[in-house]
Amino acid sequence: MALNLTFRQLKVFESAARHLSYTRAAEELHLSQPGVSMQIKQLEESVGLPLFEQIGKKMHLTTAGHEIYTYSQDIGHLLDEAEEVLQALKGVSRGRLSISVATTASHFTTRLLAAFSQRYDGVTISLDITNRESLKHQLENNLPDMVIMGQPPEGVDVQSETFMENPLVLIAPANHPLVKDQNIPLKRFEDELFVVRESGSGTRSAIQRFFDEHSVSFHTGIEMSSNEAIKQAVEAGLGLGIVSIHTLELELETARLVILNVEDFPIKRHWHIVQRSGKRLSPLAQTFKQFVLDEAAQFIRLP
Ligand code: PGA
Repeated sequence: MALNLTFRQLKVFESAARHLSYTRAAEELHLSQPGVSMQIKQLEESVGLPLFEQIGKKMHLTTAGHEIYTYSQDIGHLLDEAEEVLQALKGVSRGRLSISVATTASHFTTRLLAAFSQRYDGVTISLDITNRESLKHQLENNLPDMVIMGQPPEGVDVQSETFMENPLVLIAPANHPLVKDQNIPLKRFEDELFVVRESGSGTRSAIQRFFDEHSVSFHTGIEMSSNEAIKQAVEAGLGLGIVSIHTLELELETARLVILNVEDFPIKRHWHIVQRSGKRLSPLAQTFKQFVLDEAAQFIRLP
């Protein structure tokens, strides 16, 4: 027997399941709370099983609820895709683009997106800035059109292209005693403390891999989830730092931080533009991808 349900019920259910709250679903969808509960009740009737259960004060999804939740998300994504394809038929001058980038890439991607949206001014762009771990999760769930990150994730079926180098450099405050030294041995840093990005950051795992490969120990002090905070901490003398050179434009220009000349540095990395394999990119998304591949380097401004 075919399920007798409506898109509307699925949409309401998806929101309630995501928030685990009828009230928040009602707020999100601009409905009344009884409206939400009626849609879900009708959905439960057509499914023939309860979708939520209340344990103590907390709402949970039942097994059937989990199943329907997965399908309702997939259907939502398909509808978004259908909308994009239809938009595409109207040309690249309109439409929506959803891009997620690594925290470290945000320094040049904001400028890049500004230039792109000036060129295609009917386009709506949403940009999410987050770390590598969360980008992997987004790709697994096929959420953004495209991702800009340091290294394509393992264990997710993706298509990726390299478009620019992303060297990681060792930074120190401008008055550091090693500022004038050349080819400083890596071992010299075994007793130094580094201010580092959080685990889950691509920069952080690249640094760890580099020190492991060189069999040099690496001591981490405070962890911070922002490159900006790391640069300020290094400037304030809390430790040394290792960051992508693309985060340093202003500090190098104003000589507030210096790059130390260390053997085997910089750590060589590349930026990648990544999408789920088999994803049907709209002409707008394809145009954006080509723009990144051809023009990204112009948006780096190093002294
Ligand atoms: P991050 O990512 O901002 O998570 O460190 C950059 C990268 O993957 O290199």
